[in-house]
Amino acid sequence: MATAINVDVKATKAAIGENDIDALAAQAASAVEKLEKGTGEGSGFLGWLHLPSSITPARLDEIEAVAAHMRHHCDYVVAIGIGGSYLGAKAVIEALSSSFSAYSRDGGTRVLFAGNNIGEDYMHDLMELLRGRRFGIVVISKSGTTTEPAIAFRLLKDLLESQVGKAEAAKLIVAITDSSRGALRHLADKEGYKTFVIPDNVGGRYSVLTPVGLLPVAIAGHDIKALVAGAVEMEQAPDDAARLYAQTRNALYRAGKKIEILVNFCPRLHYLAEWWKQLYGESEGKGHKALFPAAVDDTTDLHSMGQWIQDGERTIFETVISVGAQQHTVVIPHDDADLDGLNYLAGKRIDEVNKMAELGTRIAHVDGGVPNIVISVPEVTERYLGQLIYFFEKACGISGYLLGVNPFDQPGVEGYKRNMFALLNKPGYEAQSAAMKAKLHK
Ligand code: PA5
Repeated sequence: MATAINVDVKATKAAIGENDIDALAAQAASAVEKLEKGTGEGSGFLGWLHLPSSITPARLDEIEAVAAHMRHHCDYVVAIGIGGSYLGAKAVIEALSSSFSAYSRDGGTRVLFAGNNIGEDYMHDLMELLRGRRFGIVVISKSGTTTEPAIAFRLLKDLLESQVGKAEAAKLIVAITDSSRGALRHLADKEGYKTFVIPDNVGGRYSVLTPVGLLPVAIAGHDIKALVAGAVEMEQAPDDAARLYAQTRNALYRAGKKIEILVNFCPRLHYLAEWWKQLYGESEGKGHKALFPAAVDDTTDLHSMGQWIQDGERTIFETVISVGAQQHTVVIPHDDADLDGLNYLAGKRIDEVNKMAELGTRIAHVDGGVPNIVISVPEVTERYLGQLIYFFEKACGISGYLLGVNPFDQPGVEGYKRNMFALLNKPGYEAQSAAMKAKLHK
């Protein structure tokens, strides 16, 4: 099946040759085989690989029905979750929504996010916004034990119950979690919430095409059937583009490029880059190796990070997400006085200016010693986002195996939690607590 995502690596020539990329072709083929046969490390977490094509129309109908219920009863729905239980939904909703709609396609129910930080003022502001308003909650945690969403849920559940009563609140809360384990599962069963299950074999950062991402996206009014259809197209297409991207970024890494900057020229894609950062950072950053995934929003960041990228340490390359067409047309008007000297742009669409900024930037950065990979996508729609999501997931699995790491675990994220729990005297952490305190007083 044809897909519309194209990967162009011509502008990496100054740093690596075609032979450097081709040299990784056999390893990439072996990585794909490991994914398909489940013979590589982390093979218990390959549920994402054929997830899109395994989602049934009945499952999508069920998610849409729950979304319709929430849309009918709520002006705001708070999606509570962090990391993989947050970024996918945020990325898709932000990419598809009006820049000023606060996350709703059609002026309907607005999806807000919580549990993705421990900011006291953030929670205060959110609770002030929701007080007295019709709101619901989608609480998402695969483990069901993560501290940040648990705190947010306790607070928002209290607020909701105080506003509508416990029985009504239970009808406005959906929990997405493990099928049997974790505090959230037990709480949801006890309180009688509608629940969806996160499959055991799908890790958080690969879960956007499960109810974790699909339910909030549907509540925001977007077409999850088209999103999944796009992902199916990419799943069933030849994976040449994913291999090429994986091989090229690994070849660049081996050539001394340590930082990959994902670049967009489309403000709605900011959180897609945040999702990508988690996907690649958490999948590959192991054994004291891996590209550091960074991101910039251009042209905004050309006025802040542009100098560093043009002229700083030459250990970087860029991957530019190049969007073909915008959803709307805005033309720069003629002005008789031309006091701002902009009449040379009169009659042009803003996007024509943006495209020339993109091209000019790519050329300038290559001239400055920053190679780039271009990933083209025709436009930012549900279908193409679905393709892009699956493309990045597949490439990440291949790339992790090329790098020689297990792309599906995340042992390093436990470190801060152990210390935080010890410092907060969480039951079970008494020994670490004493050790931590001794360390702090040294
Ligand atoms: O990708 C991951 O596994 C993590 O980012 C998790 O999604 C994140 O830590 C949240 O975990 P949970 O869904 O268990 O609350």
